[in-house]
Amino acid sequence: MEFQVGEAKFTANCVACHGKQAAGTDQGPPLVHKIYEPNHHGDAAFQRAAANGVKAHHWEFGNMPKIEGVTADDVDQIVKYVRWLQRQAGIQ
Ligand code: HEC
Repeated sequence: MEFQVGEAKFTANCVACHGKQAAGTDQGPPLVHKIYEPNHHGDAAFQRAAANGVKAHHWEFGNMPKIEGVTADDVDQIVKYVRWLQRQAGIQ
């Protein structure tokens, strides 16, 4: 499918905390959630999160570390996949 590359990169770099289909785990929040829809967390927020990490502010999972070894292109692909999941869930 169209989002296979993004899905593979998500699985390699993000799934441990954000969960299968970005549904969340006990290590991190779901990205398929209305607080992460594009008007609240635009694509740039995903780039910043991967490049710099995130200080805990919405949840109680602790900080997100910066993710080594993902390029801006990789994150672009991941965002396309996550936006698609959000649309499937009726969030956008
Ligand atoms: C080690 C666990 C971990 C990994 C791996 C991880 N995250 Fe996170 N992420 C978190 C946690 C925890 C938060 C929530 C911080 C908070 O309380 O707002 C978060 C928040 C975010 C946010 C919201 C940023 C904001 O501005 O509020 C985005 C976007 C995000 N992650 C994307 C990603 C992407 C993309 C990847 C893979 C490249 C990834 N994360 C990998 C733990 C992780």
